[in-house]
Amino acid sequence: MKSDLYKRRLVLFTGKGGVGKTTVASAFALSCAKRGMKTLLMQVNAKDRIGAIFNQDPIGEEMVELGPNLYCVNSTPASAMREYALMTLKIKIIYRAVFENKIVQSFLNAIPGISELVLLGKAYYHAAVEKRGKKRRWDIVVLDAPATGHGIFLLKIPSVVTSIIESGHMFEEAERMKAMLEDPEFTSVNIVTLLEDLPINESKMLSETLQEELNIAVDYIFANKVLSNPFTEEEENTLHRLEDSDTLLDSLFQSARFHGARVASQKKYADILKEKIDCFTIEIPYFFDGADRAEQIEKISKIISTQLNQTGEVE
Ligand SMILES: Nc1ncnc2c1ncn2[C@@H]1O[C@H](COP(=O)(O)OP(=O)(O)O)[C@@H](O)[C@H]1O
Ligand SMILES: [Mg+2]
Repeated sequence: MKSDLYKRRLVLFTGKGGVGKTTVASAFALSCAKRGMKTLLMQVNAKDRIGAIFNQDPIGEEMVELGPNLYCVNSTPASAMREYALMTLKIKIIYRAVFENKIVQSFLNAIPGISELVLLGKAYYHAAVEKRGKKRRWDIVVLDAPATGHGIFLLKIPSVVTSIIESGHMFEEAERMKAMLEDPEFTSVNIVTLLEDLPINESKMLSETLQEELNIAVDYIFANKVLSNPFTEEEENTLHRLEDSDTLLDSLFQSARFHGARVASQKKYADILKEKIDCFTIEIPYFFDGADRAEQIEKISKIISTQLNQTGEVE
């Protein structure tokens, strides 16, 4: 049975660099907010483009309201570490004495994986722990996760920690995070891809690694920038029969054939994708004017929401 993404508490989007992770994560987060869910869109250490999309300043460590029910933050390891330490130590003076001490800082920086651990810890805190009064502060946390390699490392870090240290506070934190990531009711990991050779191969590798090494099954594949064919089959055939001539229409015919070839290539890769990864695919159309404005993200959010409603049957 297909999972209902709107029932999850932590929804991650990863995939190859540049395929549209940020676009899809923002659009999905917007669709959650529109349903009335209190939504936190979390970026990790990103070169922010979400601020610009929503006509705001670049988003940093401070949480920003993007619209009704929708908040966004762009966490760095240092800011996540500070928040975490303040939560644990409670007292700012002690924090300053300990964490703003240069020796302690360079010691922390030297521990491999510590950045990922605190960033994941922050996502965990917002998704599972944070409260406002008696209620949960967030209904859903949407994580615009790093691209493939870094994304895998981020998700792997709790297992790495629990395999190295065997008890204590850090061990317990890592155990909790691992359980959260492996619980399909709580966490959903999704891959964004293009219908092209390299992104599809990378997606396959990613889904296998997640399954085999982390026991995480990928939920949905989001195929981005999907072209549609404006011609009927008959019109296509006519286009191919037309002899090149010197008319002004030549270049138009050529671009039409080129477009047709791109559509056919995407269809081929859509089939390959189905063969390679056993997941339901959500298709997002290519927007010829880009996906850098709020109106476009809103359109994409509706497209995502419609397709998830058709397919995302409640378990
Ligand atoms: N469906 C789409 N149609 C057209 N342009 C898109 C679409 N999705 C993303 N883009 C554009 O592609 C670029 C990369 O998208 P982005 O979401 O930042 O990718 P990533 O986060 O994976 O690096 C951006 O300039 C964005 O406007
Ligand atoms: Mg991005």
